[in-house]
Formats: sequence, C-alpha cells, structure tokens
Amino acid sequence: MTTYAYFQGQYVPEDQANINIKTHAFLYGTSVFEGIRGYWNEQTETVYLMRAREHFERMLQSAKILFMETSLTVEDMTETCAQLIQKSGIRGDVYLQPRFYKSGHVVPPRLDEVDTDYCCFVLPFGAYLDVNKGLKVCVSSWRRVSDNAIPPRGKIGGAYVNTGLAMAEAHINGVDDAIFLTEEGHVSEGSGMNLFLVKDGKLITPRTTDNILEGITRASLMELAQNELGMEVEARLVNRTELYLADEAFFTGTAAQVAPIASIDNRPIGTGKSGPITLQLQQIYMDAVKGKNTKYSHWLTPVKAQVASATK
Ligand SMILES: Cc1ncc(COP(=O)(O)O)c(C=O)c1O
Repeated sequence: MTTYAYFQGQYVPEDQANINIKTHAFLYGTSVFEGIRGYWNEQTETVYLMRAREHFERMLQSAKILFMETSLTVEDMTETCAQLIQKSGIRGDVYLQPRFYKSGHVVPPRLDEVDTDYCCFVLPFGAYLDVNKGLKVCVSSWRRVSDNAIPPRGKIGGAYVNTGLAMAEAHINGVDDAIFLTEEGHVSEGSGMNLFLVKDGKLITPRTTDNILEGITRASLMELAQNELGMEVEARLVNRTELYLADEAFFTGTAAQVAPIASIDNRPIGTGKSGPITLQLQQIYMDAVKGKNTKYSHWLTPVKAQVASATK
C-alpha cells in the first residue's frame, strides 16, 4: 500500500515528502502539530475522525504562539486528512499528523520573518499504550517544560524532546511510562498524555495552568464523566503523594485513549489493577469515538472509504 502525504501543496507518495536539511523546523524544532485518530466502521465503510475541528483549532492557536501565518482554514485542513485517507486506500483505524512548520532555509533561530508551510501524513494505527493492562508508571526526574520556556499549551515539535527524555528514562528503568511534575513540584501530566485521578468517587485532574497540553481527550472525558456518570470533576493543583493515595488513576490522549494506571513509583494504585470507574469511562469513551453513542456523533467527521483507486 502506498500511503500519501500532503507536502508543499500537493498529495504525493509519502517517500517523496522530504525536506531540505537547512529547513528551519529541522534545525530548531520549529513546528506545531496535531495527532488525530480516525476510527474505522466496517458497516458504513467509513473512517470517523475524532474531533478534527478542535484539533485544527488548537493547531492554529499553537501557530499563533510561534508567529506562524496561514491562510488555511479548519475546513481546508480537514479536507487534506480526508483526501489522504482516501488516496492511501486505508480501510482501518488511522492516525494523522498535520503540521505547520517553519519551511524557510534560514539559519538564525528567530521565529519572525521565516516562511511557514503545512504538511500532513497518515498511518494505519492501532494501540499506542496497552489499554487492557494497568500501566506501571514512575514520576519522572525530568520536569515538564514551562509556559515561560517552551509553552506546553502549544503542541510544539521541539518540546517533544522533553517527552522523549521522560519516556526513555521510564523505559530504561523498566516501567511503561512517566508522569511529569512542574518546576514547582506539582503534578502536570504524562509524557504525551493528560492524567486523571479518581478519589472518593470524584475525578481530579491538574489545571490548564499546570503546564499541561490542554488535551482534547481530557475535555471529552470530563464531559463524558459528568454527562454519563454524573461525576464531579475537579481541575486543581495536585501534589505528588496524592498520586500514590488515589483510588484509581488513568491517562488520556488521542494516541493513548483511556489508559488505566496500575502502579506509580512501585505503589499499587487502589487494588493495583485497572479501576472500575476507569474501565467504565474507557468503555463510554470508546463507544463515543466509534459512533455507538449518537449523543456524541457531532464529535466525528465521516470520511467514506475510497472505492478502488479512482482518484490516484
Ligand atoms: C504532552 C501531551 N499531553 C497531552 C496530550 C493529550 O492531548 P489530546 O487528548 O488532545 O491528544 C498529548 C497528545 O497529544 C500530549 O502530547
């Protein structure tokens, strides 16, 4: 299967989507991006993109932080995703990574007066984290990047070195993933996921000002927990030891979906297995993203599978 990419204003086979080594984004990590999942429905032969609008709106916000200008609209970019799925002939779950990047061949790492371009690739995609077992997690010795350094509110390519350092440390130390603290020592988020705790029937998550990426799955989960389970949801400062004493804990993210946590720093969370509320929320989330709960079908953008190779 040839997968297609959108690159320099055209749809091209992915192996032709290559940048010059002097590209600013390659030199300095100056790109902003999104990860978008599409869920395949066999009956309707359709991929449903999960909250594409919110992802592109967030990408435009990230772009604003880095002085990136574009005439592309949310609709234009959603269309590139649809075309890539169709041209690539994918009939299954997908992951798309649209991106604005500083495309100029400019040596100083300034952000102003450097051209910006848009690109996107698509992949057939399955699990990112194992959502069936509880994850073993550590608190990272690395601190989360902060709003006054590399703003985590923007999904900035170069900031993923921070994510990579935490992931590598976790894997080398034999656990599945990591939780970041802020420089002040409060709980922030996972390496590439947001974090929730369940305590006394209440859902608790760090605030948007605790150097998290304002997750779209996080917002969806908060809405689902309130609407479907009548749960109280609190976004507040969270201390490290609250992690150890939570009844349940889980990560959320486009790639991670809803991933239960079994232990943190070798302390079992609750019973040390995926918690019952977490598993309920996981099911509710998967039903919503797969279009099984029509109350949330406004979150989904349908992309019909392409018949044969008509548009290639
Ligand atoms: C650092 C970080 N936090 C949180 C998330 C979760 O965000 P979302 O639910 O919008 O995918 C991601 C994933 O994109 C991430 O990279």
